[in-house]
Amino acid sequence: MSNHQIPVPSEGFPVSAALESLRIKQLEEQSAALRNSVICAFNQLLDLKDLNTGVHSTRLAEWGMRVGQELGLEESELQNLEVAALLHDIGKVGIPDAILRKPGRLDADEYALMKKHSEYGWAVLRMLPGFERAALDILHHHESFDGKGYPAALRGTEIPVVSRIVCVIDAFDAMVSSRPYRKGLPYEEAVRRLNESSGTQFDPVVVRTFLSFAQAEMSTVFAAAGTSVSSAL
Ligand SMILES: [Fe+2]
Repeated sequence: MSNHQIPVPSEGFPVSAALESLRIKQLEEQSAALRNSVICAFNQLLDLKDLNTGVHSTRLAEWGMRVGQELGLEESELQNLEVAALLHDIGKVGIPDAILRKPGRLDADEYALMKKHSEYGWAVLRMLPGFERAALDILHHHESFDGKGYPAALRGTEIPVVSRIVCVIDAFDAMVSSRPYRKGLPYEEAVRRLNESSGTQFDPVVVRTFLSFAQAEMSTVFAAAGTSVSSAL
């Protein structure tokens, strides 16, 4: 190789590197903005369907991030956790209103159709670049730690950690929240039920982690979601 073929660093090199890094930063910001827009758009879709889940989902995201941080999840997993907590029930958009709003108990066929909502959510979200992992986490948010859940009857740590977290906080928030047709359970009773199903329905590590701060943070989480504990209980 002759001397004139050896690339010589020019004075312009640091400038082009800086431009490249600026460009990457801009692309990352655009990607984050697009991600937030998608989450907001889907949340609005849930509101249009009047699924009354908006505040519930916001609280789940608050609880979820706290559990995820306590468990030492990486930043990318925390981002998936936020999406999965906010949009875990997006598949309910595909469930007929007659089933979603049925005041009484669902019969076997209706329940089988209702259970499809986790697959519907996965089918939609997996088509969005960057949401593939969160789509899988949503697919498995009704798995049970003992393998008796759906849709894949995964057990233990076969279930993605984000799905195990969403499962626990979703159950807890549903228990303590009031609905038009029923009053929410007292905090102590919700805790008793979580502990009762710890190791069967729920991951015991997630339950223990969640309960280590749940009572102390109830007011903060409800306030962050724009509600108060007294309005939900
Ligand atoms: Fe669900």
